[in-house]
Amino acid sequence: MPFFDSIAILKHRKVIAMTNNDWIAPSILSADFSRLGEEVQQVIDAGANLIHFDVMDNHYVPNLTIGPLVCEALSRRNFGVPLDVHLMTRPVDTLVPLFAKAGAAYISFHPEATDHIDRTIDLIRQCGAKPGLAFNPATPLSALEYTLNKLDIVLIMSVNPGFGGQSFIPEMLQKIRNVHSLIIQNNPSIRLEVDGGLKTDNIRSVKEAGADTFVAGSAVFHSKDYKQTIACMRESINSATRTSID
Ligand code: DX5
Ligand code: ZN
Repeated sequence: MPFFDSIAILKHRKVIAMTNNDWIAPSILSADFSRLGEEVQQVIDAGANLIHFDVMDNHYVPNLTIGPLVCEALSRRNFGVPLDVHLMTRPVDTLVPLFAKAGAAYISFHPEATDHIDRTIDLIRQCGAKPGLAFNPATPLSALEYTLNKLDIVLIMSVNPGFGGQSFIPEMLQKIRNVHSLIIQNNPSIRLEVDGGLKTDNIRSVKEAGADTFVAGSAVFHSKDYKQTIACMRESINSATRTSID
C-alpha cells in the first residue's frame, strides 16, 4: 500500500502505550536567561527528561535567540540530560556541525528550510547527533515519505514557530494521530514530539493522539513550582486512556 494511502485508512484501533517512555522537555525559551544554568538544573531536578533548545534566526522566523556558544556552555555543565536542539533557521547545514560539536543530542530542522532534506539528515547523523524533522502547523507530512526511517524524531509544531506562550492549535491533534500511525507502521522507535501551547490541561489529549515527547516552555518556566507542574503533566500523561480509536 502506498505510504500516504495508509494515512487515509486509519481506522484501526491504536494502543497508547503506558510506559516510562514519555519524555517531558522544558523549552528554555521561557527560562530566565540571566540564570540559565540554574534554571536548567531546576527543571532537571523537577523531572525533565530532555532540554528543548530553540534556535531562531530572525529570518526563517521573526525572532532571534541563542546559538552554539550557549549550547556548548550548557553541555559543559554535564547535566546528564540530553539537549534537544530545534533549528528554526534557514539555511540549516552550516549550523549542524556547530551544534553537534556543542553537544546537541538531537537536532531537528524544518524541511522547507533546507534545499536537500535527505542530505541534511545525513549530515546530522554524520556529525554524531540524532536527526529530526519539524513540521509547522500547515506543512504537510510529505517530506516523511522517503525519510521516516532515517529519523530519530518527528516534531509536530502545535503553534506557529517563533514565540513561546501561544495557544495550542487543536487541528494538530489529527496530525499527531497521523504521524503516530506512520511511526507505528514503519519504525516504532522513532519519537513523536509535540511543541507549542502544551499545558497541564491539554497534555493528556496530546498523549492520547500518540505523542511521547512533550515540549513545554511557558507552562513550566512561568509556573511557580517546576516540580509540581512537571508532576502534574506526568500525571495527566499517565491518565491518558489506554486505547483510542482514530
Ligand atoms: C516555538 C518554540 C517552542 C516554544 C514553546 O517556536 O519552538 O519550543 O518554546 O513554548 P510554549 O510551551 O510556551 O508554547
Ligand atoms: Zn521548539
